[in-house]
Amino acid sequence: MEQPPIEHLFLITGTTRGIGKALAASALALPNSFVVSLSRAAPFLKVNHQNIRIDLNHTDRIGPAVKRIQIERQQTSRLTHTVLINNAGVLDPIAPIGDCDDTLLARNIRVNLTAPLVLTRHFFNFARPFPGHKWIVNITSGASRAPYYGWSAYGAAKAGLDMATRAMAMEFSRIDPTFTVCAVAPGTVDTAMQEKIRNCSVQQFDQVDKFLKLKESGALHPPERAATALIRLLMDGRFKNGGRYDLRELKW
Ligand SMILES: NC(=O)c1ccc[n+]([C@@H]2O[C@H](COP(=O)([O-])OP(=O)(O)OC[C@H]3O[C@@H](n4cnc5c(N)ncnc54)[C@H](OP(=O)(O)O)[C@@H]3O)[C@@H](O)[C@H]2O)c1
Repeated sequence: MEQPPIEHLFLITGTTRGIGKALAASALALPNSFVVSLSRAAPFLKVNHQNIRIDLNHTDRIGPAVKRIQIERQQTSRLTHTVLINNAGVLDPIAPIGDCDDTLLARNIRVNLTAPLVLTRHFFNFARPFPGHKWIVNITSGASRAPYYGWSAYGAAKAGLDMATRAMAMEFSRIDPTFTVCAVAPGTVDTAMQEKIRNCSVQQFDQVDKFLKLKESGALHPPERAATALIRLLMDGRFKNGGRYDLRELKW
């Protein structure tokens, strides 16, 4: 049976829970949209959705995963937006460097930094022939700009992602201006990642008290709110090539 044309095509990593799950739902709420999720667990969405199972710690599996995307050529003829959201992320290891586990340190950099770069490379080649504009949104963090005690790998990976965003923006503006890449910090969002932070000891993370108070005072945003805002800002063309945005500072 012939598949209907797609206007909004999204590739989103880490859609099993938290911000990624909410992003997939918000993206699917757009008219004529299709979501490809790249996640470790089974799909939760039933329609206009393909889940490609992948552990992003294995970056050599990313290229073959992109080749498994099942979109027919005739479905792409009316595309206006093709979007990659590098959302999947890990905080572990949370500890001063001397207490960190080697394997977790390497995994942190692979999932938070290497995987988004490798996926962006394959997304570029996959999406280049499509009509319409293409976006890459790298989910960053306040920890990319300020050092946090116990988060050396996470902060380094997110700072690396910010710089990669700027370098790729320069490249896209010269090589193919139909691509826009930006970094977006979602603010403090009520997800499993925040729960992990609250469960740390002060020896692991010295600001655990502050994060406990944020939760108690209701200052954490629901993931659905952050996701809806991000998708709306993206559709409104508010993200510029090479920009870094903090959702808390934008009007939405
Ligand atoms: N929550 C916040 O306050 C906050 C603040 C700043 C930035 N962020 C960023 O926002 C993004 C989403 O975070 P979140 O708060 O929604 O965290 P979360 O609830 O912990 O969800 C993380 C997602 O990443 C996926 N993931 C982790 N490792 C993976 C791997 N090796 N392969 C494939 N998927 C993997 C998880 O999948 P599994 O279910 O398979 O583990 C899950 O879907 C992250 O990039 C994070 O750094 C969050």
